[in-house]
Amino acid sequence: MKFITIGLMLVLLAGCYGDSQTKVNDTSAIVTEFNWNLPPQMALPVEPADNPMTEAKFQLGRHLFYDKRLSGGGTISCASCHEQNKAFADNQIRPLGGAGDLHPRNSQSLANSAWFASVTWGNPSLTTIEQQTMLPLFGVDPIEHGINETNHPAILQSILQDARYKPLFAQAYPNLQQIDWKQLVDSLATFVRGIISFRSAYDRYIAGDKSALSESAKRGMQLFNSERLECFHCHDGHLFTDSVRDRSMLVFETPFHNTGLYNIDGVGGYPAPNTGAHEVTGRAVEMGAFRAASLRNVAVTAPYMHDGSIATLADVVRTYAAGGRNIIEGENIGDGRRNPYKDSFIAGFEISEEEIADVIAFLNSLTDEQLLIDDRYGNPFE
Ligand code: HEC
Ligand code: HEC
Repeated sequence: MKFITIGLMLVLLAGCYGDSQTKVNDTSAIVTEFNWNLPPQMALPVEPADNPMTEAKFQLGRHLFYDKRLSGGGTISCASCHEQNKAFADNQIRPLGGAGDLHPRNSQSLANSAWFASVTWGNPSLTTIEQQTMLPLFGVDPIEHGINETNHPAILQSILQDARYKPLFAQAYPNLQQIDWKQLVDSLATFVRGIISFRSAYDRYIAGDKSALSESAKRGMQLFNSERLECFHCHDGHLFTDSVRDRSMLVFETPFHNTGLYNIDGVGGYPAPNTGAHEVTGRAVEMGAFRAASLRNVAVTAPYMHDGSIATLADVVRTYAAGGRNIIEGENIGDGRRNPYKDSFIAGFEISEEEIADVIAFLNSLTDEQLLIDDRYGNPFE
């Protein structure tokens, strides 16, 4: 992954990189005034010491998230690729940035990203939403928002001088004389961190309403948690991913797994640039290793995988059943089932069509329908 050259982001990012797998969880200095409104089983997520959650920053960030003026061409906002009615993902295989660049990876859902131990599909060095927020804004590989060395002062001024934003900035930063990009990035990250999603049928079920899941979904849940399918090993816990960090932890891990989707060279290669954690660390054993996606709201975020290369949930389950993906035509020919870096839990299994339908019924029960329409997360300009 290449980063932008403009000094602005380099200053903001200084000191952020390091690729150790076990990281110390710094939860000191955190006193939140934010109403997280969580179900009892959820531990509070970590808030960066220099950007604690406040409702005022959340509301400012919500405006910025939907504001196309926050881009070089005035045509793109965060919401262009992170749409509320798709759980803040989109339905593109890979999205287009503001200058027509095709992003190498599929847009991710932003729901509950406050808890992910690392952010993005496969980057162990990105551990905060603040870091990630700068990449679409200022990045050049690919260009997304297209804010650069030349246009950033005018873009910042157009936001700061807007009458609608003045009270929002005053409430979010009452003691600050001069607002700069750091405050915009922090507020955007605060909004994203505050996108909480625990109102699915599955959540009603674990809260005690045994009728919330259909019989098919219950069978699917059992299959998901079985030693035959093995899904729960990587998609575990309340967020259905093993890449979780919360305030109760002293240390945290940033795990990545190769699920056998590619093998373009017979020795385990994934097509560049999407080589997963390997792209960042250069370590061969991390070839094709990606973060286990949270499966909450997965029914509304098709297509699937880091590059959007699987169209439906049924095909995802079939790929796991086959123990990986054997590509027999096109540019990525190769038998992913024989990828030497493949995780040992991707061993393949027998499954009937009816059982596939049950697994999908379970995955469908993870959709938080209210999230998709909740005004709290909606476009404030509409
Ligand atoms: C052009 C489309 C596009 C735009 C615009 C965009 N994103 Fe994204 N976003 C993506 C893609 C693609 C990924 C996956 C990136 C990767 O894996 O490298 C992503 C990932 C993320 C993640 C990581 C989520 C996770 O589960 O780890 C966050 C947070 C995020 N975006 C926030 C934002 C914010 C905030 C904005 C606006 C400043 C924004 N994005 C604008 C496409 C976009
Ligand atoms: C070895 C760990 C592991 C196991 C076991 C596993 N997964 Fe995954 N899962 C992942 C990883 C890693 C990804 C992302 C892979 C990529 O994009 O290359 C993923 C992606 C997915 C996705 C796509 C999510 C999205 O937003 O694109 C679905 C759906 C899914 N898994 C369901 C399942 C099911 C169902 C099972 C059991 C049959 C299962 N997984 C077993 C690690 C695992």
